[in-house]
Amino acid sequence: MEIINSPAQIQQYALRVKRQGKKVGLVPTMGYLHKGHLTLIKEAKTKCDVVIASIFVNPIQFGQGEDYEEYPRDLTRDADLAKGAGVDVIFAPRVSEMYPKGYQTFIQIESLTERLCGASRPGHFRGVATVVAKLFNIAQPDFAFFGQKDAQQVIIIERMVEDLNMPLKIVRVPIVREDDGLAMSSRNVYLNAEERRQALVLFDSLKAAKSLVAQGERDAARVKEKLIEIISKAPLAEIDYVEIVDGKTVQPVKKLSGEVLIALAVRFGKTRLIDNIILEV
Ligand code: PAJ
Repeated sequence: MEIINSPAQIQQYALRVKRQGKKVGLVPTMGYLHKGHLTLIKEAKTKCDVVIASIFVNPIQFGQGEDYEEYPRDLTRDADLAKGAGVDVIFAPRVSEMYPKGYQTFIQIESLTERLCGASRPGHFRGVATVVAKLFNIAQPDFAFFGQKDAQQVIIIERMVEDLNMPLKIVRVPIVREDDGLAMSSRNVYLNAEERRQALVLFDSLKAAKSLVAQGERDAARVKEKLIEIISKAPLAEIDYVEIVDGKTVQPVKKLSGEVLIALAVRFGKTRLIDNIILEV
C-alpha cells in the first residue's frame, strides 16, 4: 500500500487505473481510523477494484474554538489499519497542497445545512462540501463511501453530487457502534471514563424513541421530550440539539411520517458527540 501526498499524483494514478477499466472507490476520512472507517473501506472493497482512502484533517470545516489543533492524528497507525482493511492507496495531502495561497473557491449547500450541525457549527458544511468536491475531482472515484453516523453530511453530499452532476455514486454505510452502543468516533478518545459511561444515554435515548414510535407515537414533540428526558439522566450531558427532521429535506416535522431522522448532538465535558437514527414511519 502506497501513501501519496500529492493531489496531482493521486489524480494521475486514478485516471490510469480507470483507463484500465477498473472501478475506483474513495473513502474520505480525517484519520485516526476506527471500525466505523474500516467498515466503509470493506464496503468499498466489495464494490470497487481499487480503494483510495483519504486522510486529511480539513481545517476549513472546523470553526473558531473547535478542536482542529487537538484532533487526534496518527498516520503510522492509520496506515497499518488501512493496509489491513485492503486499502490500495492512502491520499494524505498537506494543508498547503489542498488550500494553496490564493485559494478562493467554496461550495455552499443551501437549506439542507440550516438545521442540526449546520446551525450549531456555522460554516462547517461549507468546509465539508468544498473538501469533498476537491477529493472527488482529485481521486476521480466511481463510488464514494460515507457513514450514516454523520447523517446530515451524507445528505448534503448526495445533494451536491446530484446538483453539480458529479459522475459518481454515493454509498451510505450504517452506523458502527461499540458493543455497549456508543457510536464509534475518532473523538471518543477525548472522553474520560465517567463521560464515556454517561455517553451511553445517547443510544439509549434513540432506542427509546424508536420503541415509542413503534408503539404508535407520531407526535414529534412527545418523542423529543422522551429523548431529552433520557439524555438528562446523565448529569454531565449538555444538549447542543435534539431534533426530529424529515430525512430528505432536513426540516423539522411535527408529525412523524415517511423517512424521519432523529439526530442529536450532546456535549460531555469538552467533547461534542453526535448520534442519530433513521425511522421509516
Ligand atoms: P471522519 O469523521 O473521519 O469520518 C469519515 C467517514 O467515516 C464519514 O463518512 C463518517 O460518517 C464515517 N464514520 C465515522 N464514524 C462512523 C461510524 N461509527 N459508523 C459508520 N461510519 C462512520 O466525516 C468526516 O471525517 C469528514 O467530514 C470528511 C467527510 C472526511 C470531510 O473532511
